[in-house]
Amino acid sequence: MTIPMNSEEFNELWDYVEERRPGIEAALRANLPLAPAHVETKFNDALEYALFPGGKRFRPVLTLLGAELAGGNAEEMLPAAAAVEFIHTSSLIFDDLPCMDNASERRKKPSLHEEFGEGLAVLVGLGLLNASYPLVFVNHAGSPEKAIQAHGEIVECIGAGGMVGGQSVDLALVNGDDITFGGDLTDGESIRNLKTSALMRLALRTGAILAGATYIELAALSRFAELLGDAYQLSDDLIDLEEDEEIFSEQQKTLAIEKGENAARAKLQSTIDEAKRVLVDNFASSRARTVLVQLTDYLAERNA
Ligand code: IPE
Ligand code: IPE
Ligand code: MG
Ligand code: MG
Repeated sequence: MTIPMNSEEFNELWDYVEERRPGIEAALRANLPLAPAHVETKFNDALEYALFPGGKRFRPVLTLLGAELAGGNAEEMLPAAAAVEFIHTSSLIFDDLPCMDNASERRKKPSLHEEFGEGLAVLVGLGLLNASYPLVFVNHAGSPEKAIQAHGEIVECIGAGGMVGGQSVDLALVNGDDITFGGDLTDGESIRNLKTSALMRLALRTGAILAGATYIELAALSRFAELLGDAYQLSDDLIDLEEDEEIFSEQQKTLAIEKGENAARAKLQSTIDEAKRVLVDNFASSRARTVLVQLTDYLAERNA
């Protein structure tokens, strides 16, 4: 599955995705952290299963766009884009485990642990995370300062201030722990969506850093990523709600559950509008900016 192309409204976006997709798929395949061939193991099969055909490849597209926004060349950023998709896929593998969301399906197939067992699922997740670091270091060794900065971005995204922290908020909510966001769920959206925003931030800023973005551009991308993450998670929650109203436990209070679909849709639209404003205010007109604006608008319409 790739980003579904069901509307003529987003032509620049579809053209871009179509153009970049073969490069992304090739970079993923070329950099697979396979176990040595002589080892008798299902690890390689599980790795293949986890990554292909994969999902929408939304985040590696963001990496290429982040680079282009900063004046860089997308082709040179394909290994970094693959690293971002590896990290994203590992986060989904861990998210589905019985000790987390206990999800039996992912990307319309049995989840990795359902198919290969928990042990291999954990190992594949770790293998993917571990493979992401050298993809930046080795491929950008010629610009050590940028490589180190991008490496720092990966560490920050995965850690307690990013995905790990965000996932622990989700765990607390599912466990029914008393987590209040200043008493108002709306104010808590950014904390709630930290896991998603962290990856959006990583995706956009890694490309931009490696392309030599300025501090001001990077700050704007951080703000944009936070809003994009909020919008992405809100749209995801709305899709989940549409697909199956019973999937949410009482404790898992998403905005869509707590305040109703209309309020969630209104919040989604205002978040999208603000995100687009950040882009337009901080970056000169370019193809990459147009594609990002369309991609942001698309979140109000997506249904997969
Ligand atoms: C799923 O993300 C996790 C969320 C942040 C909602 P995606 O829906 O982008 O996952 P894939 O990669 O397309 O399967
Ligand atoms: C998964 O979030 C996102 C990350 C692991 C970063 P969710 O649990 O909300 O998403 P789905 O519904 O399983 O894709
Ligand atoms: Mg989860
Ligand atoms: Mg989940």
